[in-house]
Amino acid sequence: MSSDVRKIMVSSALPYANGHAHMGHLVEYIQSDIWARFQKLRGHRCTYVCAADTHGTPIMMKARQEGITPEELVTRVAGEFLEDLEAFGVAFDNFYTTHSDENQSLVNRMFEALRDAGHIYTKTIEQAFDEKENMFLPDRFVKGGCPRCKTEEQYGDACENCGATYTPNDLIDPISVLSNSTPIWKESEHYFFRLSAFEVNLRKWMKSAGLHPHITSKLEEWFEAGLQDWDISRDAPYFGFKIPGTQDKYFYVWLDAPVGYLASFLHYCNQHDDLDFDEYWSPGHDTEVYHFIGKDIVYFHTLFWPAVLEGSGFRTPNSVFAHGFLTVNGKKMSKSRGTFIKARTYLDNLDPSHLRYYYAAKLGPGMDDIDLNLDDFIARVNSDLVGKLVNIASRCAGFINKRFDGQLAPTLDDPQLFAEFTDAAEEIALNYEHREYSKAMRHVMSLADKANRYIEDKKPWLMVKNEDQADAVQLVCTQGLNMFRTLMIFLTPVIPALAEKSRVLFQESSWSWSSSATPLLGTSISTFKPLLTRIEPEQVEKMVEQVKASSDETAAKPVKTDSDEITIEDFTKVDLRIARIEKAEPVEGADKLLQLTLDVGDESRTVFAGIKAAYEPDALQGRLVVVVANLKPRKMRFGMSEGMVLAAGPGGEDIFLLSADSGAKPGMRVK
Ligand code: MSP
Ligand code: ZN
Repeated sequence: MSSDVRKIMVSSALPYANGHAHMGHLVEYIQSDIWARFQKLRGHRCTYVCAADTHGTPIMMKARQEGITPEELVTRVAGEFLEDLEAFGVAFDNFYTTHSDENQSLVNRMFEALRDAGHIYTKTIEQAFDEKENMFLPDRFVKGGCPRCKTEEQYGDACENCGATYTPNDLIDPISVLSNSTPIWKESEHYFFRLSAFEVNLRKWMKSAGLHPHITSKLEEWFEAGLQDWDISRDAPYFGFKIPGTQDKYFYVWLDAPVGYLASFLHYCNQHDDLDFDEYWSPGHDTEVYHFIGKDIVYFHTLFWPAVLEGSGFRTPNSVFAHGFLTVNGKKMSKSRGTFIKARTYLDNLDPSHLRYYYAAKLGPGMDDIDLNLDDFIARVNSDLVGKLVNIASRCAGFINKRFDGQLAPTLDDPQLFAEFTDAAEEIALNYEHREYSKAMRHVMSLADKANRYIEDKKPWLMVKNEDQADAVQLVCTQGLNMFRTLMIFLTPVIPALAEKSRVLFQESSWSWSSSATPLLGTSISTFKPLLTRIEPEQVEKMVEQVKASSDETAAKPVKTDSDEITIEDFTKVDLRIARIEKAEPVEGADKLLQLTLDVGDESRTVFAGIKAAYEPDALQGRLVVVVANLKPRKMRFGMSEGMVLAAGPGGEDIFLLSADSGAKPGMRVK
């Protein structure tokens, strides 16, 4: 490798392995994927890693709820998450897991180094404890009134109303989210990392890392307030790594999570001889390490993380890049507004290139929030990608295909104009390097305007009608296609799928950034196929409807209420009856619901039930079910639901009803 080839490791934040990828996550993964692709296109040795963040109480509880092991949960969720990201063109070199041997031994190694250097101490603290569940409660598992503004139902770490931060101990009337019981306060010994001892080093790191002013001003605030030592341990039961030398203490998930960057990279190095883990992660090499993150996890990445690395003898990252949060139509994503859009729901309706371009057109280097305005999304993508960019090729390629047997002319019509395109390369490259994607996109689109104006002036569609201008048509279209090609090379990091199709059009085996500098002349091109279609507003409407429908389904699911007992009087209020299913029909726009027409003896009722995954509608006809006959009718998005069907089983494909020949008759009371 020549000496100007940079050796870079870049990471995206590790997604929690307990939920689906959504539009907000995609800001993160698309932003970092563009950057990694850009570095590779420039010829650098860039390794892009990520992993599933698998540990902690929420994941443990979710697995319990589903009746599976945490290992099973994280394997399934991480697999789905990665599949979704890959469908958006996010191309990690390695996507690993924090629940790995590599991670455990790296965490142990770091912990032991920190402990031996005197950076760890133990202290007994009091913590909320749920006696019913027999476990200590993380801050987010305790709710109560905000001690400052008195708003009810706030989490134990911070108030969503007034922004106050505190500990669960400070809440008014705290209750455990798990059992709704009042927690007690119980003592336990915890391990602390002496973050306070790292202030000088962290200030130095902050200066050398060239952090964005949005981050440095946050850091200044935190330094001003004084750095607090960090509790890195949790008591059993906990899904995580046991702290060496203890019986029932675990590393807090946020200690082992960023180590997951190293573990993923190590796993990859072990399969690639040209990569040396120590060259990237021990101090004193000219390799480069960068982390992309969201603004909510800046504290972990710019204080804890560099301090832990420094204190345990590893190198610190060259920089940390933080982006803002996504809003949709100017507001926080919401299921009921139809704007909490999962990656999968988007993919079912729209093309990933659309979103990658739109995000790039909006992203800058700072932590400002970015808005996905759905109308603007349609307008912008149709106008820029389809109307400006792809249009250049579709106006020129047909003539080359049909009239010149696919041959490009041996010279350009206007080399000076072409030079304006290639001259932009360095500035656009700097824009990418500095994560000024929106500037890069604006620059590319202004060049696309220029290319379109050129074609507009020449009007090859009129020239072809004139016999003695035939050769000129080839020159003009060769010029147009070369301008298009250069722009596509510039856009490769953003819309790799389109770039790939374009490269195939030009019959080239690979593109690098420098391929943009020389025009393609005298060679032949393939038959032009449409590269991208316009977004139809209906596609977006349909997606929003699907999100709303699935939020109704969630609302229709029985919610877990108090584990408090009910009296026999409460129970006898419930009128349970046998009903026969007369008709079962799918509900348009809802993947889980069936609309049932029930014979409850003296009358017929319409009830919506979330059992579609378990039964074919036809197979349900004639089946007997138990219904709650006196449930107040509920208005759902699809109509009124007049009762509720009872069934046994964990849900999904396993839902069990009564069998048709049980001898029960519609209308019978169930006691
Ligand atoms: N597991 C932690 C990160 C550990 S890194 C050692 C975590 N996971 S997350 O799944 O909640 O988020 C993953 C990334 O997506 C984070 O960088 C987060 O900031 C980003 N986003 C999650 N929701 C987001 C939006 N609504 N908008 C923009 N980015 C968001 O945090
Ligand atoms: Zn408050």
